[in-house]
Amino acid sequence: MTATDSTPAKKPVAILISGRGSNMMSLVEASRAPDYPAEIASVISNRPDAPGLAWARGQGIATVALDHTAFPSRAAFDAVLHNAIEACGAQFVACAGFMRLMTPGLVARWHNRMINIHPALLPSFKGLDTHARALAAGVRIAGCTVHIVRPEMDCGPILGQAAVPVLDGDTPGTLGRRILAAEHRLYPKVLSLFAAGAYDIDQEIARLKAASANLEMLFSPEA
Ligand code: GRF
Repeated sequence: MTATDSTPAKKPVAILISGRGSNMMSLVEASRAPDYPAEIASVISNRPDAPGLAWARGQGIATVALDHTAFPSRAAFDAVLHNAIEACGAQFVACAGFMRLMTPGLVARWHNRMINIHPALLPSFKGLDTHARALAAGVRIAGCTVHIVRPEMDCGPILGQAAVPVLDGDTPGTLGRRILAAEHRLYPKVLSLFAAGAYDIDQEIARLKAASANLEMLFSPEA
């Protein structure tokens, strides 16, 4: 995209996926708006057969398949992953269903430049099976979180959250579908703010510089 006097250049972002890629699709679609501050430079998957990778390829987006099973160690894979991210010119990394733990070294190289979406209201329900665990705990409000990546899984400064009510009779499937719909709204909004430099990060707390920065998008009671 060509920058004009009134439109700042879009920041190139690499998206990391492992599977379906529905969050990646929501970022790609949002990034097509002329005033969106980020563009998708590449979609990278650790699973060559990830359906999301084929979709991205079909959209004409540069893709990279790095089969993690072909590497002798996590560090060896992460070194090549880092090179692939750099090679596409990305300034930021958005993890979107990237189901692989990263070495502290890789996270450090992208310090405060790598973000992730998690299908729960962190710091509750880190890890897998979040919807089943939220239902088992009897929470009335569930949701999703976009956060900056730190070496510890599902930790890091919180950039945005969307709340989703738990309804009577919810199953992990029904709750998960409503949360996924909220993810698809939340992630593009947060990436937009993040790429535009709208956050200050201090003492592991992320704050929007402008209180008016569309806070209503970070809560979705109708979801
Ligand atoms: C999403 O629920 C995301 O929050 C989690 O993994 C899932 C990925 O789904 N990290 P998709 O590949 O984006 O459809």
